[in-house]
Amino acid sequence: MPTAVISGTGAYVPTRVLTNKELESVVDTTEEWILSRTGIIERRIALPDQATSDLSCPAAVQALENAGLLATDIDAIIVCTVTPDMMFPSTACIVQAKLGATQAVAFDLGAACTGFIYGLQLAAHAIEAGSWSHVLVIGAETLSRIVDWQDRNTCVLFGDGAGAAVVSANGRGPRILGIHLGADGTDGHVLTMPAGGSRLPASLETVNGRRHFVHMNGQEVYKFAVRIVDEACSRLLDKLGLSYNQVDFYIPHQANLRIIEGFAKRLKLPLEKIAVNLDKYGNMSSASIPVALHEFGERPPQTGSKVMLVGFGGGLTWGSCLLEWQAN
Ligand code: ACO
Repeated sequence: MPTAVISGTGAYVPTRVLTNKELESVVDTTEEWILSRTGIIERRIALPDQATSDLSCPAAVQALENAGLLATDIDAIIVCTVTPDMMFPSTACIVQAKLGATQAVAFDLGAACTGFIYGLQLAAHAIEAGSWSHVLVIGAETLSRIVDWQDRNTCVLFGDGAGAAVVSANGRGPRILGIHLGADGTDGHVLTMPAGGSRLPASLETVNGRRHFVHMNGQEVYKFAVRIVDEACSRLLDKLGLSYNQVDFYIPHQANLRIIEGFAKRLKLPLEKIAVNLDKYGNMSSASIPVALHEFGERPPQTGSKVMLVGFGGGLTWGSCLLEWQAN
């Protein structure tokens, strides 16, 4: 059976930086409140002419280059996003055309902040089954387009960006040892964008009611996140017959530094073992983990190191993926 490896990664964030200080003139907030409650210092905002596919493509090109592949080598493109360019065609098809990935099937995947890990699962299974040899998994978001810039509870949290990984059959790069996924739709109401779908199509009423923006019960999401990070990791470790002390590094979804610090404290982990980039980018939903993975891989750990990706988000959804670094 072929082994699924991450043969290349890439990342792209827009050039426009939005600082906490600037947000003081947008909503009733303070630099200090945002930093102390979230750990975020600044985030990136897509330029007016940049949609999600425009952030995806540079990340994808870099991932292909790092994998030593051409766009035409790719069998499938999965774009994980809750902010597609439009309802249809899929952003993945738009990316496929822009890259010239003529041999690739293409589709979007909606699992919010856990999207990238869901995408890795599909890619790894298709590779292990022998269906595909190279899959481009992209996590990309332009959340700035769906946050309510009048709502201080949400607009300070998010940022735009894209991360990409090529998952290949065999070869060099970190090996995917296992993945655990979960979902619980019964609590999905705590994080939604109510309008714009078939339930509440766009109308003057939905626009005036600000229903096309992110609506979030922050405290409920926080409680869910704290519980599920541990559970997602331990379920996967149990399945693989491993324990927490056999994991060398963690790359969690970047929602809030307090969630990450709480996790570190419970597991008695030094913070150096946990990748953190939310100070620079905020919460980029499905892009958070692949961007952090790309940055982490720029200073690769020792051969044999085990690295846990762990995500949670809207749906509600969650997932974990254990990687093992191989010699290059
Ligand atoms: N500036 C100043 N005050 C604010 C701001 C702000 N930007 N936002 C909220 N407040 C106020 C609230 O109005 C409230 O005031 P009140 O007591 O007068 O009503 C007060 O601060 C406390 O609000 P809380 O919601 O209790 O603040 P909390 O400490 O819980 O922090 C936060 C809020 C940061 C949203 C936290 O709940 C959180 O991180 N939740 C996780 C949610 C998350 O990360 N979601 C991201 C998307 S989901 C995902 O990625 C999985």
